Amino acid sequence: MLKVVKIGLLGLGTVGGGTVNVLERNSQEISRRCGYQIVVSKACARDMSRARICSTDSLQLTSNPDDIINDPEIQIVVELMGGEEPAKSLILAALANGKHVITANKALIATHGNELFAAAASNKVILAYESAIAGGIPIVKALREGLSANKIEWLAGIINGTGNFILTEMRDKGSAFEDVLKQAQQLGYAEADPTFDVEGIDAAHKLCILASLAFGMPLNFERVYTEGISKVTPLDLTYAEELGYRIKHLGVARKTDDGVEMRVHPTLVPKKRLLANVDGVMNAVLVKGNAVGATMYYGPGAGADATASAVVADIVDICRQLEISSDQYLAPLGFLSEQLKDLPNVSIEQVKTAFYLRLSVLDKPGVMAAITAILANNGISIEAALQKEIEQHGANTQVILLTGSVVEQLLVSALAEIESLDSTTGPAVRIRVESLQ
Ligand code: HSE
Repeated sequence: MLKVVKIGLLGLGTVGGGTVNVLERNSQEISRRCGYQIVVSKACARDMSRARICSTDSLQLTSNPDDIINDPEIQIVVELMGGEEPAKSLILAALANGKHVITANKALIATHGNELFAAAASNKVILAYESAIAGGIPIVKALREGLSANKIEWLAGIINGTGNFILTEMRDKGSAFEDVLKQAQQLGYAEADPTFDVEGIDAAHKLCILASLAFGMPLNFERVYTEGISKVTPLDLTYAEELGYRIKHLGVARKTDDGVEMRVHPTLVPKKRLLANVDGVMNAVLVKGNAVGATMYYGPGAGADATASAVVADIVDICRQLEISSDQYLAPLGFLSEQLKDLPNVSIEQVKTAFYLRLSVLDKPGVMAAITAILANNGISIEAALQKEIEQHGANTQVILLTGSVVEQLLVSALAEIESLDSTTGPAVRIRVESLQ
């Protein structure tokens, strides 16, 4: 007879429902792996009358989270409510009650993870968060365990399924931004507040956690430079293709001699790179280790069953550690807590990348010469150029340039000079380019 482990769910929406379904569908296989029968005994839901994607027949439903965090029979609490409060207080209370906690709440881990991990350690329990990053992809395990022999040099990922879905549909079907966003919401990919997806905040939360896992530093969310996809236009998607690139919304973390870069922004990626071909809701994280080289992890970044796959993997992991002493638990960020080291921040102005530029200019002799002279005077090389006749913003020509690698603040000051030319008719569009090599 297998021993039973009781689970309490805080939240029974898309991921909560998926978790119940996956546990039920794969119960035997999961028990064969972890040695326990896993039973979801209680679930807390705000709206008791809402239709569920899972059966609730064998669950005790409650609208009071205290029924779960104070239930002495529940050993593992799974927080799937999202948001800061009451999620944070409930997690702290569950940890204080000696319960292991699993959370998919990337915002909470990114902004309060240092405090929450410390609370888990002092209560001698585990706080697991695989489902917080890149949906079903086991990227926490990969960084924390699989790549533990390496010094991680950099990582770059498509880590927001909604954003990737929107960019892919805009490129392939010419769909309007708002229509695709609505579709993503209906499919359960988008955050409760979709500005988190489209303005890059969700990706920034995930990148912050990935950077800490990669470089062994405390979580520093406020240092992540964040730009979303809301300003990416169909025009730029098309011109990027013509130049042999795709525009992807990337999170990039890189360790340099000066410190650590953490940035989230639309990025031109050469079409031939695997990452450029990660489409729809799929996520992928490319990790460069100094021993293994480049490795890539690919899979669905959102959705009920995919995210539940990661939640249940955390349940299995905790079950496997139930009978060992707490000082043998794996450190949450993979580095011993006392070995976490803060590293200097490399601000976005100091980051060196190539750029895609789209300049709105008048079509008259000498315009191109003036632009190239400014770039040359600032030591910025031009790798490729396109010129398009188009009526936009009062301009009659769009000049599209790919620059060589340049420190961002130098590029910004060169662009200010270009924008002040009489022949320039609108603000420049600039998008960073990554070769990912
Ligand atoms: N809104 C998130 C996304 C869900 O689209 O990736 C998974 O974290």
